Amino acid sequence: MNVERIVHNASQLLTLAGPPQRGERLGELNIIEDGALLIVGERIAAVGTSAELLAAYPAAERLDAGGRVVMPGLVDPHTHAVWAGDRAAEFEMRLQGKSYLEIMQAGGGIVSTVRQTRTASLEQLIAETRSRLRRMFAHGTTTAEVKSGYGLETETEIKMLQAILELTCEEPLDLAPTFLGAHAIPPEFKDDPQGYTDMVCEQMLPAVRAWWGQLPDPPIPDPPFVDVFCETGAFTLAQSRQILETARDLGFPLKIHADEFDNLGGAALAVELDAASADHLVVTSTPDIAALGTSNTVAVSLPCTPFGLAEGHYTPAKDLLAVGAILAIATDLNPGTAWCESMQFAIALACRYLRLTPAQAIVAATINAAAAIRREDQIGSLEPGKLADVLILDVSDYRHLGYRFGGNLVHTVIKRGRVYPLGG
Ligand code: NIG
Ligand code: FE
Repeated sequence: MNVERIVHNASQLLTLAGPPQRGERLGELNIIEDGALLIVGERIAAVGTSAELLAAYPAAERLDAGGRVVMPGLVDPHTHAVWAGDRAAEFEMRLQGKSYLEIMQAGGGIVSTVRQTRTASLEQLIAETRSRLRRMFAHGTTTAEVKSGYGLETETEIKMLQAILELTCEEPLDLAPTFLGAHAIPPEFKDDPQGYTDMVCEQMLPAVRAWWGQLPDPPIPDPPFVDVFCETGAFTLAQSRQILETARDLGFPLKIHADEFDNLGGAALAVELDAASADHLVVTSTPDIAALGTSNTVAVSLPCTPFGLAEGHYTPAKDLLAVGAILAIATDLNPGTAWCESMQFAIALACRYLRLTPAQAIVAATINAAAAIRREDQIGSLEPGKLADVLILDVSDYRHLGYRFGGNLVHTVIKRGRVYPLGG
């Protein structure tokens, strides 16, 4: 029989009940004071005040939150968590004056991680990624999207996707895989980006589809997302369209990296193709912002990336909210621009540089982030029927999330109903 457990005595139970929050409605936490939650097995069965739930379920096991904040697990909808090695030397070069794109054009950047990832065994990749996933979990992330994209040829790309699937089976964190074969032009195609684009469409996407189709028991029901880095020096708008349209026709859900450094029109393409999200959005044009405003394509801002690059430009979040966009935030965890495992840190940056209130940043990191990976019916809020992915924070006022930074406010993580005590 499934264990019944009540988490009670929450100073503030942030339910975030309701659908993803669009535009200036962002920030409705739907708080229950002295709140409680009934968990049965791996799902939430009821939400209410402590008095109500303790009276209604007297036989349930009790977990006293001790007057702390209780909220949904954080969802990180954009990471490149699987890679081998590091790029500490490039970080130093950037501080000495080289730009990210200059390093990339000189054969460093993404392709230097590609070299290291191609030679790593599956076991080594899993081991290196596992330590990052554990840090993410310890900082309150209970579901994360993870991309391939450091293989840039079929075998290594599938090795990366395999690592993601094995890790989602073994770790408490739930992972949503994304195929990002179009992350960069590989060295073999340096002078023929269109040749590589054609290969992605004609060989890699069908191979990934076939590989996914033959998995005996996929731990995730839906096929991976397909993503493209639509950027100067990576894929043009026309090449991004070619890849995403091919992927759509093969039945993959879509995502895009758009407007990180240059505005090529990727966000509007994402809207046109009904992509789940358009991510980065730093130099997005006014018409592209308007397109996102009326669409279900989630606008994912990655504030750790400009911070990691020590650049001053961030997503124009207020403009996106003014036109009604669904705004989410993510870490972009990767070895080049943002080695950050903490969504709490992304929230702190979003408060300062996107000018979000803590409540708005929390919604962007939970229910809206869940929508960016199309899991808003399963996670992202504390509502009956959803997975019991719950955080107990070591504070009594939710605004400490965002206000404080550089530390870890997580006291306990509950993942699919299992309790993982972490803090003091
Ligand atoms: O999201 N923009 C492309 N991809 C990553 C960087 C990856 C890397 O530098 O390894 C990003 O910033
Ligand atoms: Fe990225």
